[in-house]
Amino acid sequence: MDPESRASKCYLSPINLDDADEFTELRRQRLICGWESDHQTLESWKSKRDLKKLFWITVPDLGPGLRAGHISLDKSSALLEPGFLRKNEIELSLSSFFILPEYRALRLGKHAVMLLEKLATTEPYGSPCCRYLTLTALSKKYFYDEEWRGMWDRVGMQMPSFSIQEWYERLGYVSWKEEPLYEERTMDGEKIVLWEAFMKKDLWGL
Ligand SMILES: CC(C)(COP(=O)(O)OP(=O)(O)OC[C@H]1O[C@@H](n2cnc3c(N)ncnc32)[C@H](O)[C@@H]1OP(=O)(O)O)[C@@H](O)C(=O)NCCC(=O)NCCS
Repeated sequence: MDPESRASKCYLSPINLDDADEFTELRRQRLICGWESDHQTLESWKSKRDLKKLFWITVPDLGPGLRAGHISLDKSSALLEPGFLRKNEIELSLSSFFILPEYRALRLGKHAVMLLEKLATTEPYGSPCCRYLTLTALSKKYFYDEEWRGMWDRVGMQMPSFSIQEWYERLGYVSWKEEPLYEERTMDGEKIVLWEAFMKKDLWGL
């Protein structure tokens, strides 16, 4: 089966963090991801379930109920500038998005984002009032600017093969600003803050 047909069959199923097996699997995936992976953060997501809806990215054709990754639809991020939204418009945010390395480049990520966009404008997880899906992504200057590219060596990581900001651009997301947002430690133990692009997509224009 070609990747597009297989990916088009993937679906999002709600994660139940009260289920010990699901909690363990999410922790496993977060540890591989490296971000927000501590037990305490995952425990705190249990009490935020009205604000943060986590979903498995499930792919039937790769194995029964196979969880190739996860993604979250968040209510409380408020990334847009105050006053940007008109009356009766709301923003929801995409976060905690991860595809396990062995299932990457199979178009699952692209389909998971498209499914989340549909959920965002539909009850019960989203709302027809949701006009914008927002997110932050590592700035592409870490890929294209000679000076900024030095960050990868400093933190002891290999530069990925593509820019995640550009990946979202290909899915119709538009950046409106960049800010230093996430702390990272260099190999020397120095604290640096990584710049993220703030991105949005107008879901009413789809
Ligand atoms: C970013 C991520 C979610 C993408 O998921 P994915 O399922 O691998 O991506 P897809 O297969 O849907 O990618 C679609 C397009 O991206 C590009 N792409 C994907 N992987 C690529 C790679 N390794 N090299 C170059 N381009 C790549 C391709 O152009 C592809 O388009 P095509 O199918 O028309 O050729 C996944 O790599 C991941 O989990 N990364 C680590 C965590 C992360 O960065 N999360 C996002 C935080 S904001």
